[in-house]
Amino acid sequence: MVSSIALLLSAGLAAAQTFPVDLVGTWSSKSNATLTGSGFYDPVNEKFTEPSLTGISYSFTSDGHYEEAYYRAIANPSSPECPQGIMQWQHGSFSKQANGSLVMTPIAVDGRQLYSDPCAYKTAIYTRYNASEMFDRYTVSTDSYNNKTRLDLYQFDGSPMMPLYLAMSPPEMLPTSTLNPLTTSTPGGAKSTSKVKRSELPLNHNVFEKRTVQMQRADSVWWFGMFLTASGGVLYYFF
Ligand SMILES: *[C@@H]1O[C@H](CO)[C@@H](O)[C@H](O)[C@H]1NC(C)=O
Ligand SMILES: *[C@@H]1O[C@H](CO)[C@@H](O)[C@H](O)[C@H]1NC(C)=O
Ligand SMILES: *[C@@H]1O[C@H](CO)[C@@H](O)[C@H](O)[C@H]1NC(C)=O
Ligand SMILES: *[C@@H]1O[C@H](CO)[C@@H](O)[C@H](O)[C@H]1NC(C)=O
Repeated sequence: MVSSIALLLSAGLAAAQTFPVDLVGTWSSKSNATLTGSGFYDPVNEKFTEPSLTGISYSFTSDGHYEEAYYRAIANPSSPECPQGIMQWQHGSFSKQANGSLVMTPIAVDGRQLYSDPCAYKTAIYTRYNASEMFDRYTVSTDSYNNKTRLDLYQFDGSPMMPLYLAMSPPEMLPTSTLNPLTTSTPGGAKSTSKVKRSELPLNHNVFEKRTVQMQRADSVWWFGMFLTASGGVLYYFF
């Protein structure tokens, strides 16, 4: 009797420990300039803040939530005067599979992307962003060179991402619940525009389709420009 209770307790404990504690915290690439949280993306005003340097950041909680922030420059050697840049934010839930893989499931309506291609568009393009991810495996270690706690994430094909270092623990994150349900219109506030429904933001792949059809829908690009103007303070180009 006593041993079966003990067995039940330990089984319960094992089930509760689905989320690895070694991942908990905010991790950032070497520059430590791009970090998750409200300093990167402000969901109330639909606004990105440009970090001082490019980089990526992931945060994990002890109860299965994650958030990610990407700020990347896209090199354009054929036209160096036309640098492209991208800021992406999403959050959701993650789980560690029995085989060690991490499965990341974003809240699809919440992710956002700001894409800048100054030679193709007059304004940066603001869209929804939804990309689920799978990491084949990960390791947490102490970097022998700088003595920092280091996270290596390996992509689905086994190739390593750039190393991430522990920047903050507990993690710095926005609320982990759904921020922008599809049916919600823009909340009030002097700077927001009541005309724009978030559900009308297209997904990012639509933008790239638009680009390949050579601005066929230039009217909607202009519309995004208007939206950015209305929400105020949003960068147009970040180079
Ligand atoms: C681990 O499991 C996940 C889902 O269960 C699967 O998608 C993934 O391919 C597996 N990884 C390896 C390395 O077998
Ligand atoms: C988000 O992406 C996932 C897979 O990547 C897809 O199954 C899902 O339908 C997408 N959701 C929306 C709202 O686009
Ligand atoms: C490395 O960090 C640990 C704790 O974070 C500290 O105790 C140790 O002294 C450090 N070692 C070096 C060589 O700085
Ligand atoms: C990274 O930045 C955060 C926030 O500014 C700071 O608290 C932390 O100490 C930094 N970490 C490293 C390793 O420089």
